[in-house]
Amino acid sequence: MFRWMTAALVLVAVVVGLAMTWIWREPAGDPVARFLERHWDKPLVAQGTPPEDFSALEASLSPGDCADCHAQQHQDWSESLHSQTMGPGMLWQTRALAPAEIAKCLDCHAPLAEQKALLAMELEWPGAPTTPPPDYVAPDLHRQGLVCAACHVQPVLRHLPPVSR
Ligand code: HEC
Ligand code: HEC
Ligand code: HEC
Repeated sequence: MFRWMTAALVLVAVVVGLAMTWIWREPAGDPVARFLERHWDKPLVAQGTPPEDFSALEASLSPGDCADCHAQQHQDWSESLHSQTMGPGMLWQTRALAPAEIAKCLDCHAPLAEQKALLAMELEWPGAPTTPPPDYVAPDLHRQGLVCAACHVQPVLRHLPPVSR
């Protein structure tokens, strides 16, 4: 698993390096702006190994697994464009453009480092991981669109909105 993650990181660093300057913004003063700046610093880094006390369901990055506990949000997401960002149009483009170009598209269309690594495997890009993904990464995660985890999960931590509402 460690080799897979390392490969994913290296790949993202190589292929997506350009995207850092592309999306760069000036650091802002207030705490919310600083959080957003940090949270959305692209490219997103690989999640890394989930905590040992996580069940397979909790560790999973798949929307279908979030749905087990968050059925309504999954329903809303399924009906939104966010679930369709890797449709036929986009998948066709991934074969037409160079990897570095595609990596930039993926920052919006399939932002997780794990999704980029899976697409790299499928398209046999240089530097793609050579071993199967770990259990918490579904083999078709790159085809599932702008997944829940891209917004809510970053380096393993689950980011939640304030509960007091
Ligand atoms: C095994 C069940 C389970 C799974 C799987 C699960 N969650 Fe949760 N989640 C919970 C529970 C329980 C809470 C706490 C609910 C509360 O406090 O009202 C929660 C809270 C949240 C909240 C905050 C909700 C709020 O009102 O503050 C978000 C966002 C969230 N989960 C996203 C996700 C995402 C994204 C996934 C998939 C990557 C996921 N969850 C997978 C059980 C789960
Ligand atoms: C900054 C975020 C962002 C980036 C980067 C981006 N896109 Fe998009 N893309 C979007 C959004 C948002 C939409 C939906 C627009 C709408 O429907 O109004 C979209 C829509 C699309 C669609 C139409 C989807 C469909 O099923 O009809 C295609 C195809 C597409 N993008 C391809 C690309 C390609 C190829 C790249 C890279 C060269 C790229 N995008 C880069 C945000 C982005
Ligand atoms: C594009 C980013 C994005 C994606 C993708 C996304 N969410 Fe959210 N989610 C948010 C934001 C932002 C909020 C806070 C909304 C608010 O407070 O009004 C939120 C709120 C939530 C909450 C808190 C309760 C609620 O409904 O407000 C849960 C639970 C949740 N999302 C789960 C999910 C699940 C499960 C998925 C995938 C099926 C998902 N989200 C996909 C951004 C996202």
